[in-house]
Amino acid sequence: MNLLITGGAGYIGSHMVKFARSRGHTVTVLDNLSTGFRDALPTGVLLEGSLLVPEDIRATLASSRFDGVIHFAGSIQVGESMRLPLKYYTENTIGTINLLAGCVEAEVKHVVFSSSAAVYGQPMVDVIDESCPTAPINPYGRTKLIGEQMLADCAVAHGLTSASLRYFNAAGADPAGELGERHDPETHLIPLLLQAASGRRKSFTINGDNFPTPDGTCVRDYVHVWDLCAAHLLAMDYLMAGGATTAFNLGSGAGFSVAEVLAAAKRITGIDFPVEWGPRREGDPARLVASRSKAERVLGWRCEYSQIETIIEHAWAWERKQTGLG
Ligand code: UFG
Repeated sequence: MNLLITGGAGYIGSHMVKFARSRGHTVTVLDNLSTGFRDALPTGVLLEGSLLVPEDIRATLASSRFDGVIHFAGSIQVGESMRLPLKYYTENTIGTINLLAGCVEAEVKHVVFSSSAAVYGQPMVDVIDESCPTAPINPYGRTKLIGEQMLADCAVAHGLTSASLRYFNAAGADPAGELGERHDPETHLIPLLLQAASGRRKSFTINGDNFPTPDGTCVRDYVHVWDLCAAHLLAMDYLMAGGATTAFNLGSGAGFSVAEVLAAAKRITGIDFPVEWGPRREGDPARLVASRSKAERVLGWRCEYSQIETIIEHAWAWERKQTGLG
C-alpha cells in the first residue's frame, strides 16, 4: 500500500512508519515537528507541513496517489486540553477538517483515525465495548469524538470510508530498541516509572489512593505500541476490501492498577526507586478496560506483545538507551 501518515514523527506515528515499511508498504509522513522528532524517521519520508495550512495538505496529497491516510497528528494531553480547549479544537478538529477536505478533493478513499478511549468518558461498566455510550469528559475526548462523527458524515456524503481506532493506554517501545516513547513534558505512567528507576527523576508519585478499585489506584488497559501498529494495517486492509466505516477498541483486555504496574516496574528493573503518594489527578476515571473482541472478530487482530511485562521490558530497554545505561 501507498500510505500517508500524519503525525508520523510522534510516538505511535514513528512506530507505525517503521512497522509499515517493514511489511513492504510505501510511506510518506506529513508532520510539523511541533512535538515529533525528525530523527525518529528514516530519511526521505518526511514532508514538513501543518494540517492548519490547507496548501500543505493539498501539496502532500498531490505528491503521490495514496491508497489511504493514517491520521495521528494532533494534541494528546487530557490535562492540557482542560486548560487550553481552543488549542485542542484548533489542532485536532480544524486540522482534521482540513485533512478530510483535502482527502475528498484528492479522492483519497480511506482514513484510519487515531481515536481514544477518552471518547467513552467514565463508563459504568467493567469492560468497555464499542456499543458503550460515548460521553467524553474533557475537550481532548470531545475532539476525538467530533473527528469520528465527521468521518462518519464523510462516508455518507463522499464515500470516504474510515476506521476510528479507540486506543486505551498505548505503551511500550519498538521490540528492536530503535524507537520509544518521547514526550515533552512526559505525563504517562510507564515512562515516568522508568525515569524514576533510571534516576532521571528523583521519585515517582502515585496519583490518588482512594479510587473504587481493589487497591485504591486507577486501573488501565495497557496495549503495546507494536500491536497498535499491526491493528492500523489490518484496519486499512479492511477498508480497502470494502469494509464500512466503524470504530474499534484497541486494548489488551486486561486491567492493571497503578500499584500493580509500579510493582512490575520495580521487579523488571530490579531498582527500588522512591515512591510518593499524591492527590488524584483531575479527570482520571477509576477504571478503563477494553473489550477487544470486535477488533479480533472483524480485523483478525491478535495481541502479540501486550503483556504488561513485555511492555515494561521494551520501554525499559529504550529508557536505558536514552540514559546511556546500556
Ligand atoms: N499516573 C500516576 N502517576 C504519574 C502518572 C500517571 O499515578 O506520575 C496514573 C494516572 O493518574 C492514571 C494512570 O497512571 O491513573 C495512567 O496514566 P497515563 O497518564 O499514563 O494515561 P491516562 O490513562 O491518563 O491517559 C490515556 C491516554 C490518553 C487518553 C486516556 C483516555 O494517554 O491519551 O488514556 O482516558 F485520553
